[in-house]
Amino acid sequence: MDNINYNLIDLEKDSWTRLVNGATKSRSPFHTPCIATQHKEEVNMRTVVLRGANPVEKTLHFHTDIRSMKWDELIVNPSISALFYDSSERIQLRIKGIAELHHENQITQEAWEKTSLSSRRCYLTAFSPSSFSDLPTSGLPEQIEQENFSQEDSEVGLQNFGIVSIQVQSIDWLWLNHAGHRRAYFDYVQGRNQWMIP
Ligand SMILES: Cc1cc2nc3c(=O)[nH]c(=O)nc-3n(C[C@H](O)[C@H](O)[C@H](O)COP(=O)(O)O)c2cc1C
Repeated sequence: MDNINYNLIDLEKDSWTRLVNGATKSRSPFHTPCIATQHKEEVNMRTVVLRGANPVEKTLHFHTDIRSMKWDELIVNPSISALFYDSSERIQLRIKGIAELHHENQITQEAWEKTSLSSRRCYLTAFSPSSFSDLPTSGLPEQIEQENFSQEDSEVGLQNFGIVSIQVQSIDWLWLNHAGHRRAYFDYVQGRNQWMIP
């Protein structure tokens, strides 16, 4: 941020530009947000790779294994939060939304086709993520771990491949600045943008 006098409309646009960069640039600080879901009385958080951000639709998405805990949690309760922090710019985004789960549809098929062999390995474990094991292990058969397998061998992973799309309902923007912090709230449900006290 180079200008403390940004207006709310510019800031909202700037936030989405940063999110798009987060999805497309692996070195972006917004590439790996922390995602929170709820399970009964517990809150669970984990890091994911941001795979897409759509400023027009106000959506974000990431890939996951449909056998993971988060998938089951989102089926029961689709409320989801995403936390981003850029330490060099000192900008935090706290995003709330509703998750839409994609599995075995055109969206997952197209994304799967673009997924590299190396990334497909994540979906090829014999047992579900979070299964307990007597030994430290990736859960992958050795030839898969060594990337000694064909594209055709990897196709079985598609059945485990899911996409979580977040319909963003609000962005809580915070900028830490020595001349005075700034905070704003972009509310897509009420359709309004407001300043807040940091
Ligand atoms: C840098 C990084 C990136 C990750 N990216 C993803 C991802 O894109 N999707 C995913 O499901 N898990 C990803 N993980 C693993 C999750 O943080 C988490 O450990 C795993 O998904 C199990 O979470 P769950 O039991 O809450 O479902 C990533 C972890 C790290 C450290």
